[in-house]
Amino acid sequence: MPVAAAEVPVVAIDGPGGSGKGTVARAVARALGWHMLDSGALYRVVGLAASQQRMDWEDTAGLARVARDLAVVFDPLSGDEGRIVLAGSDVSAAIREEAAGHAASRVAAVPAVREALVDRQRRFRRPPGLVADGRDMGSVIFPDARLKVFLTASVEERALRRYKQLKQKGIDVSLPALSKDMAERDRRDAERAVAPLRASPDARILDTTGLGVAEVVVRVLHWVGEAYPGLARREGPDA
Ligand code: DC
Repeated sequence: MPVAAAEVPVVAIDGPGGSGKGTVARAVARALGWHMLDSGALYRVVGLAASQQRMDWEDTAGLARVARDLAVVFDPLSGDEGRIVLAGSDVSAAIREEAAGHAASRVAAVPAVREALVDRQRRFRRPPGLVADGRDMGSVIFPDARLKVFLTASVEERALRRYKQLKQKGIDVSLPALSKDMAERDRRDAERAVAPLRASPDARILDTTGLGVAEVVVRVLHWVGEAYPGLARREGPDA
């Protein structure tokens, strides 16, 4: 008998860019053998698609159409971060560039775009469980998640992390420019009228400044064990 989506456990991990939530969410999903939703990647794909189609950024109905009709496939099995294919092309690298991040931030501020992506995001909730990474996973997309984590870190540390991540991928950026861009994007994400970046009142807030990934992952897995007793020790979907 199919399991109702609402019965599938979900862990929401929200926070600003560079807070480490992507890395942490992926590690937690792997440890539990659960699915993973990288909702930031979805907004980045919409941003990229809108740029490719030379959309007018003020055309909110047009941007929402791009979001709704998005022919995107998340292939979790290939590559460490999974492969993302848009209309037949592998866009996994392109969406990580700063231009796509900037475009993502713009489309993410459009209420109709967010609305168009709600069901698509909820469809990621499949057995045995989901770790959802984003800005509004706990507040809007999965309000019934029994564990909501909000990760933060100082702007300086977040910019440095993102800098190292991009360097590793061979993408050349300047740290001061990245820092400035990140502060600007933070402001836009926090101030927008719809789904602003804010911790849910029922989220557990964790400042990761000075913490290593492993420490954060252990802490989150501990919380998963409290929220979903009996599930935390699973090693994978077949365990
Ligand atoms: O986490 P990220 O840098 O990949 O996210 C890209 C942009 O998308 C960023 O500006 C925030 C936005 N975003 C959002 O508004 N809601 C989400 N659930 C995820 C990302």
